Amino acid sequence: MGSEVILKLVVCFLVGALTHGVRGEDPYLFFTWNVTYGTISPLGVPQQAILINGQFPGPNINSTTNNNVVVNVFNHLDEPFLLTWSGIQQRKNSWQDGMPGTNCPIPPGTNFTYHFQVKDQIGSYIYYPSTAMHRAAGGFGGLGVNSRPLIPVPYDEPADDYTVLIGDWYTKSHKELRGFLDSGRPLGRPDGVLINGKAGKVGAKQEPLFTMEPGKTYRYRICNVGLKASLNFRIQGHEMKLVEMEGSHTIQNMYDSLDVHNGQCFTVLVTADQAPKDYYIVASTRFLKEVQTSTAIISYSNGKGEASPELPPAPVGWAWSLNQFRTFRWNLTASAARPNPQGSYHYGAINITRTIRLVNSVSRANGKLRYGFNGVSHTDPATPLKLVEYFNMADKVFKYDVMKDEPEKVTDLSVQPNVVNMTFRNFVEIIFENHEKSIQSYHLDGYSFFAVAIEPGTWSPEKRMNYNLLDAISRHTIQVFPKSWAAILLTFDNAGMWNIRSEIWERTYLGEQLYASILSPEKSLRDEYNIPENTLLCGIVQGLPKTNSYT
Ligand SMILES: *[C@@H]1O[C@H](CO)[C@@H](O)[C@H](O)[C@H]1NC(C)=O
Ligand SMILES: *[C@@H]1O[C@H](CO)[C@@H](O)[C@H](O)[C@H]1NC(C)=O
Ligand SMILES: *[C@@H]1O[C@H](CO)[C@@H](O)[C@H](O)[C@H]1NC(C)=O
Ligand SMILES: *[C@@H]1O[C@H](CO)[C@@H](O)[C@H](O)[C@H]1NC(C)=O
Ligand SMILES: *[C@@H]1O[C@H](CO)[C@@H](O)[C@H](O)[C@H]1NC(C)=O
Ligand SMILES: *[C@@H]1O[C@H](CO)[C@@H](O)[C@H](O)[C@H]1NC(C)=O
Repeated sequence: MGSEVILKLVVCFLVGALTHGVRGEDPYLFFTWNVTYGTISPLGVPQQAILINGQFPGPNINSTTNNNVVVNVFNHLDEPFLLTWSGIQQRKNSWQDGMPGTNCPIPPGTNFTYHFQVKDQIGSYIYYPSTAMHRAAGGFGGLGVNSRPLIPVPYDEPADDYTVLIGDWYTKSHKELRGFLDSGRPLGRPDGVLINGKAGKVGAKQEPLFTMEPGKTYRYRICNVGLKASLNFRIQGHEMKLVEMEGSHTIQNMYDSLDVHNGQCFTVLVTADQAPKDYYIVASTRFLKEVQTSTAIISYSNGKGEASPELPPAPVGWAWSLNQFRTFRWNLTASAARPNPQGSYHYGAINITRTIRLVNSVSRANGKLRYGFNGVSHTDPATPLKLVEYFNMADKVFKYDVMKDEPEKVTDLSVQPNVVNMTFRNFVEIIFENHEKSIQSYHLDGYSFFAVAIEPGTWSPEKRMNYNLLDAISRHTIQVFPKSWAAILLTFDNAGMWNIRSEIWERTYLGEQLYASILSPEKSLRDEYNIPENTLLCGIVQGLPKTNSYT
């Protein structure tokens, strides 16, 4: 080797070390997950559940900002299966998003390895199955992202970290529930509520879910993993200090209870400052005719005495919930995943380049129940949208922009893939308008957005005057109350194919979702990764060579 070449190599190495940081690559977390059926009886009736490594709910992933997470998922079910990592932004990497529009499902008896980085994120998240009605049977779990050392966190290190997954629950199997939906029937009312896989009753013997030492403060990561019901969460005798919500540090207000809508997560601090005994954690359904309630026990170490059977009451009505939403504010001076303050990004000063109004609708044409947005009910083609786009075969499978940005008066929903062409780096306003009498919850993959308003009535451009353009929370899921609307703002700067969906799973399953396609204008690796080597191919792209499209 000539000395010139050696010099070049040395220079390359130095440049590499500088751009990647001399500390080297970010740490890896490896997991091997066996997904199987198992029998559980959380409501007293034995039923089939989806377990991960024998657990229901699945294992929690405890990670730190920028960690590389590698999860090898073995599908031992009798159906194709996928997991999605809700709220994990997958920068440049919709290949790992695990939605049927981005990934071929993992065939039964085989495995697929997700490989993603929790890049520049902190907070409490969840993962769950995205295929069929599998989410109704389990397969979900918590995913916490801790701050890196040296990044200031706006509260003292808690004594411990407790994940609380609350959700409504059905005793019917995922196949039976899917059968209902396929035959035009709705899911109906949930049979109960679970807290970390169990439905505790007041007065019945329960093992404590968590134990707190008197005087110490604990971090609770609370997420709604359910299919349908908004839930109110509260802890007997204790206030909760809200510190983080879906990746953003919040103004630290105290709450007696929190409404957690489908797919949402809150991080709160709870101090063990009461008489040392047992207390009930309570999760109860909101906005349903019949209230379902479940409890779990938290105990104090060396505590004496059972929890009082008198549960703290749930709030009534959705106006309470709307008022609570309005108290959620971004802490402008706190750091998130990077040391600079969250509020250094002035989203309120950016001009909106596109407004998309999404009105949810339902149709029962020919006895078929379908849900959709602006007249289009999404259906997943056999080949994932991301793959047909990457292999330049989109025209064989779907049309872009079949849905209009403005709602139209339609009687029947048109059932087809719903893909919106978004321009890279556009600053977009999305209005979710809910003309129905039930509450909705909407989630965006690949991004967080500024939740600038939720209001009753009908949206019109003048309503922009009421937006919170200063300290709205940057988050990934937003509720829309009955006969109300919600407005979100975001920059579409993460190239990829990203799902926008109802978190009310029967609606998602029956078409109330769409994909935003954001293409890298220069097909640049700066904007998006090439297709990973282990990506599963199926449908019309099966067997094609994985050429690198981006350079
Ligand atoms: C997964 O299942 C295989 C057998 O199917 C077993 O060998 C392995 O230990 C299991 N792994 C875990 C993490 O449970
Ligand atoms: C399946 O698991 C094996 C290890 O058991 C691994 O080498 C392989 O890459 C995995 N397959 C995929 C598609 O990720
Ligand atoms: C916001 O964050 C700052 C910086 O960490 C912290 O000092 C302050 O107490 C927080 N403010 C509120 C109102 O929570
Ligand atoms: C999560 O990981 C961090 C860092 O490795 C550790 O300090 C912490 O105790 C872990 N938390 C839980 C709940 O396991
Ligand atoms: C936003 O639009 C206004 C009016 O069209 C224009 O004057 C202003 O320069 C724009 N601001 C930015 C940051 O582009
Ligand atoms: C998407 O929109 C951009 C303009 O914003 C256009 O250049 C591009 O051709 C469109 N792509 C498709 C696939 O329609």
